Amino acid sequence: MKSIILSALLVLSGSVAAAERNEPVQPIVPPGNINLGMVELGKKLFFDPRLSRSGFISCNSCHNLSMGGTDNIPTSVGDRWQQGPINSPTVLNSSLSVAQFWDGRAADLKEQAGGPIANPGEMAFSHTLAVDVLSSIPGYVMEFRQVFGNTPIGIDAVTTAIAEFEKTLVTPNSPFDQWLLGDDDALSAKELAGYELFKNSGCIACHNGPALGGTSFQKMGVMAPYEARVPAEGRSAVTGRDADRFNFKVPTLRNVELTYPYFHDGAANTLTEAVDIMGRLQLGKTFTPEENAQVVAFLKSLTGDQPRFLLPILPPSGDDTPRPQPFDR
Ligand code: HEC
Ligand code: HEC
Repeated sequence: MKSIILSALLVLSGSVAAAERNEPVQPIVPPGNINLGMVELGKKLFFDPRLSRSGFISCNSCHNLSMGGTDNIPTSVGDRWQQGPINSPTVLNSSLSVAQFWDGRAADLKEQAGGPIANPGEMAFSHTLAVDVLSSIPGYVMEFRQVFGNTPIGIDAVTTAIAEFEKTLVTPNSPFDQWLLGDDDALSAKELAGYELFKNSGCIACHNGPALGGTSFQKMGVMAPYEARVPAEGRSAVTGRDADRFNFKVPTLRNVELTYPYFHDGAANTLTEAVDIMGRLQLGKTFTPEENAQVVAFLKSLTGDQPRFLLPILPPSGDDTPRPQPFDR
C-alpha cells in the first residue's frame, strides 16, 4: 500500500517536473476573474450587426468564431463592400498581446473595440448612433442596467462589455499544451521534430510566450525584403520613427491552422508557403520539404479548444429604433 502511494507520488511529482519543461512557450490558461453578466452582454454586442450603419456587419462578420476568429479572406470586406487595407487578425487569444492591431495603435481590447464601429470602411457607424440604437432596444436597456447600474448606456460600457467577452476567447488544451503540461504522448514524432526546428532555427526569437507571438513588434523581411500587396507600413505609423518602418506585431501562432490566409496582406494561402517565406526572409534559412512539413505539423498542434457557447439571441429592436441603411451594390 505504502509503495503504491509512494509511486503515485513519484508519478505526480514527475508530471509536475514535466509541467515545468522550461520551454519558451507556456500553455494557455482558461480566463480567471471574469464578470459573467458582462461576458453575456459583450457576446450579444459582438454578434449584433445593428452596431453598423448597414445593420449587416457585426464583429463576427470579420472575426468569425466558427472560423478561428477570422474571415479567411486576404483583406476584410466592410461597409459598401469596401475591400479593407489589411488582413483581419484573429480575436482568439488576443487578450495575450502587448497591444492591438498590426501596428499596435490600440493599447488594449477595450480601446480597440471602439475602432471598427466608427471606421467608415468597416461598420461605418458612429459611437453616438450606436449608443442611440442600443438605448432604443428595451432588452438592451435592461441588460446594461443589470451589468452597469443605472447610468445611461454609453460607448464606454459597450466597449468594456465587448472586451470582457473577448477575454473569454482563449483556446487552451491544444495537443502542444498537453505536451507542455507533461503528456509525452500528446505530440507525434513529426510534430516534436517540427518544434525542435522551430526553436533551433530561431522562429522562437519572435514567436514566444503563451500565444507564440503578440509579445513584440518585428520587422517583416529581416534577411530579404518582403514585397507586400498592401501599402501598410506597420509600427512607424504609430511611433513616427523610420526605424519602425515595416515592423508589425508578431502574430500569434495559436490556431494558425484555422486563420489562413497569412501575413498582414493575406498573401500566403497555406502554412507551407508561410513557413517557407518566414524561413527565408526572417532567418535566411531554406527548409527542405521534409523540414517544412515538420514545422507545419508542429504549427497544426497549436489548435486548441475553440470557444463554445449557445448562439446569443439578440433582443428585438423597439418601435423607435433607428432603422438600418443597407448599402446597395
Ligand atoms: C469589416 C471587418 C471588421 C469588422 C466588422 C471588425 N473588425 Fe476587428 N479587425 C479587422 C481588421 C482588418 C483588423 C486589423 C486592422 C489593423 O491592424 O490595422 C482588426 C483588428 C481587430 C483586433 C486586433 C487583433 C490583433 O491581434 O491585433 C481586435 C481585437 C478586433 N479587431 C476586434 C473587433 C471587434 C470587437 C469588432 C466589433 C466591434 C470588430 N473587430 C469588427 C476587421 C474587422
Ligand atoms: C524576426 C522575427 C520573426 C522570426 C524570426 C519569425 N517570424 Fe514569423 N512572423 C513575424 C512577423 C513580424 C510576422 C507578421 C509579418 C506580416 O504579416 O507582414 C510573422 C508571421 C508569421 C506567420 C503568419 C501568421 C499569420 O497569422 O499571418 C507564420 C505562420 C509564422 N510567422 C511562422 C514563423 C516560423 C515558422 C518561423 C521560423 C521559420 C518564423 N515565423 C520566424 C516575425 C518573425
